[in-house]
Amino acid sequence: MSSLEQTFLERFGRFAREHATSFAANGHTRTGIAMRLKLYDHLLRRVLPPLLPHPLRILDCGCGNGFLGRHIRERLPVARMDGVDFTPELAELAAESGLYAEVRNGNVLDLGTLFPGEYDLVNSCEVYHYIAPEERAAFWRAHLDRIAPDGRMLLVVPNFRSALRRVRRRLPVGYYFDLDSIRESLAGFPEARIEAVFGIDLVLRRAWRLNAARKSPLGEFLSFELAVLISRNR
Ligand SMILES: C[S@@+](CC[C@H](N)C(=O)[O-])C[C@H]1O[C@@H](n2cnc3c(N)ncnc32)[C@H](O)[C@@H]1O
Repeated sequence: MSSLEQTFLERFGRFAREHATSFAANGHTRTGIAMRLKLYDHLLRRVLPPLLPHPLRILDCGCGNGFLGRHIRERLPVARMDGVDFTPELAELAAESGLYAEVRNGNVLDLGTLFPGEYDLVNSCEVYHYIAPEERAAFWRAHLDRIAPDGRMLLVVPNFRSALRRVRRRLPVGYYFDLDSIRESLAGFPEARIEAVFGIDLVLRRAWRLNAARKSPLGEFLSFELAVLISRNR
């Protein structure tokens, strides 16, 4: 196990013990929680319903304690939702929540073994930045292979090009990225298509759509989070 993995296991284990079923157990700050819930509200109510089959099969990758899973379940018709998380305490809380058909304590890099099926929505919220740069290709392979025909992957990440994030950097060098670096790391997967990108700003807390194909310097500068909607060509 790498020292980063060890550090975050200890950190998330402590959060789980301190905050149990609240969103803070997943390591989110108050600002982060407000931003993420707003962004997900927009995606779950307006963006995803017309795109996805109903009811949905969902794989929540890095599900934490299931707080976000509950938010998803309350807004989308779910046929089955499975979850994976690396931190044993959080996986246990997710399993106890009763929201998931099955929860596995494991690494998302092993999704192909843990949950080899296909899903209409492969959700990954705030996990990608814990993946070491040399493991990002394995991350994409494991997630893209889970997307069913007509399904989507939703990758929500802290946007390190945002004005606020720039002054709050806390990760080791090499773990920072923005939309460009996500595009770059997906370049080796021609079957993956970035269909849309959404940002949310800290001041108005309003989610909006960025141009997925072009640079949007102001949009990216203002976006606290980025939500990248990915489809898979067959
Ligand atoms: C910031 S929390 C986000 C949790 C949840 N998705 C949410 O948005 O509330 C990051 C989660 O990812 C999990 N995680 C990080 N790296 C992982 C990996 N390689 N495999 C599985 N889970 C991982 C951590 O244990 C933690 O629960």
